[in-house]
Amino acid sequence: MSNSKVLVTGGAGYIGSHTCVQLLDAGHELVVLDNLSNSSPEALRRVQQITGKTLQFVEGDIRDRPLLDDLFANHSIDSVIHFAGLKAVGESVQQPLHYYQNNVAGTLTLCEAMAAHGVKKIVFSSSATVYGDPASVPITEDFPLSATNPYGRSKLHIEEMLRDFSVADQATNELSPWSIVLLRYFNPVGAHPSGQIGEDPNGIPNNLMPYISQVAVGKLEQLSVFGGDYDTVDGTGVRDYIHVVDLANGHLKALEKLDQPGSEGVSTYNLGTGNGYSVIQAVEAFEQASGRQVPYKIVGRRAGDIAACYAAPALAAKELNWHASLNIDDMCSDAWRWQSNNPDGYS
Ligand code: NAD
Ligand code: WQD
Repeated sequence: MSNSKVLVTGGAGYIGSHTCVQLLDAGHELVVLDNLSNSSPEALRRVQQITGKTLQFVEGDIRDRPLLDDLFANHSIDSVIHFAGLKAVGESVQQPLHYYQNNVAGTLTLCEAMAAHGVKKIVFSSSATVYGDPASVPITEDFPLSATNPYGRSKLHIEEMLRDFSVADQATNELSPWSIVLLRYFNPVGAHPSGQIGEDPNGIPNNLMPYISQVAVGKLEQLSVFGGDYDTVDGTGVRDYIHVVDLANGHLKALEKLDQPGSEGVSTYNLGTGNGYSVIQAVEAFEQASGRQVPYKIVGRRAGDIAACYAAPALAAKELNWHASLNIDDMCSDAWRWQSNNPDGYS
C-alpha cells in the first residue's frame, strides 16, 4: 500500500496508540490530534520509541474548528482515523450533554473541517454497543441497531450522520464523495507485546480485563463478578474479547479499503474474534498467563448488562481481508506484561 499522511484523532489513547504503532511500522506519516483528556503524552513518546519513527503531535480538541482549519491547511492529510471521544457508559448516563458535545458535536466539527479541506476519507470507531441487547449471537452487521445509554446513542447518531453525508453525495453525484468505514469493535483488551503501551484507566476500572489485571498485581482486592445466573456456559456474562493489536491491524485494512477504487459510500464491519468467553473463563485465562490468583465473588447483575455478545466477523474477513489472529492467552499475557511492568500506568 502506498504511504499516506493520516490524521489520527484520539491517537494518544488506548486503541489509538496501538494503531499508531502499526501505522508507523507500515510507513505512514502521522499527525495525532488529542486533547489528552483521557491519555498521556508518554504513550506517544513510547509509540515512537517502539517504532523508532516520529509522528507529529497536536494537543487540541476536535471541537476547535480554527485549530482544525490550521491543521488541514498545514498538512496534506489523505485520510482520518477518528478515535477521539468519551467512552465511559456510566458517566454518559450522568453527563449526557458532555457526551453528545464531545462525541457527536466533535465529530460534526471534524467532518465539516474535513469537507472544507477536501479530505473525505474517514475510519470511525464505532462499537458493538450499537446492537443493544441482540436477539441472538453471533451478531452480523445487519442486526437491528439500538442503544441503551447516551454513550451508545452517541455512536449511533454519528453512524447515522456519516451515512447521511454519503446519501447526499449520491443524490448530487458529488465528484469527490465521502468514503467511510465504520468499525464496530467488540471488547478490546490486551497490550502491545513490548509491554510499553497498554490500557491506563483513570481510577477504578469499569471494564473487566483492567479490573482483573489490577487484582492480579495487588492494587485491588477482589473482582466482583456481575451476575452468575445468565443463560450462558457457567452463568456469567459472555463477551468477544479482541486483542488490541489485532484491532489496530483492522484499521490498516480499513485504510487500504478507502484507497481502493469504488470505496465511495459507507462500509460497516464488526471487529471481533467470533469467540465468546465468560467472565470466569477470562479470570482463569488471566490466572494461567500471570501465575497470580485472581480472587472473585459473584454479586448481583450490573444494570444494563446483557448475557452474551460476540461477533460474526466474516464480512471483515471477506471485504477487508482481516481476521483476528491472537487468542485469549495472548490477550492475557500481554495485558499482564503491561500491568506488571507499569503498575501505575503511564504516571
Ligand atoms: P481512550 O479514552 O483511551 O482514547 C480516546 C482518546 O481521545 C483519548 O486519548 C482522549 O484524550 C481523546 N479525546 C477525547 N475527547 C477528545 C476531544 N474532544 N478532542 C480530542 N481528543 C479527545 O479510548 P479508547 O479505548 O482508545 O477508544 C477509542 C475509540 O474507540 C473511542 O471512540 C471509543 O468510544 C471507541 N471504542 C472503544 C472501546 C473500548 O472498549 N475501549 C470499544 C468500542 C469502541
Ligand atoms: C465485560 C463482562 C460484565 C467488570 C463495555 C461497554 C461497551 C464497549 C466495551 C465501548 C460483562 C463483567 C465487568 C467487573 C464483571 N465500550 N464484569 N466485573 O460491558 O461488555 O462493554 O466495554 O464502546 O460499550 O459497555 O465490557 O469489560 O465492562 O464487561 O463481572 O468488574 O465482564 O458484567 O459480563 P462490556 P466490560
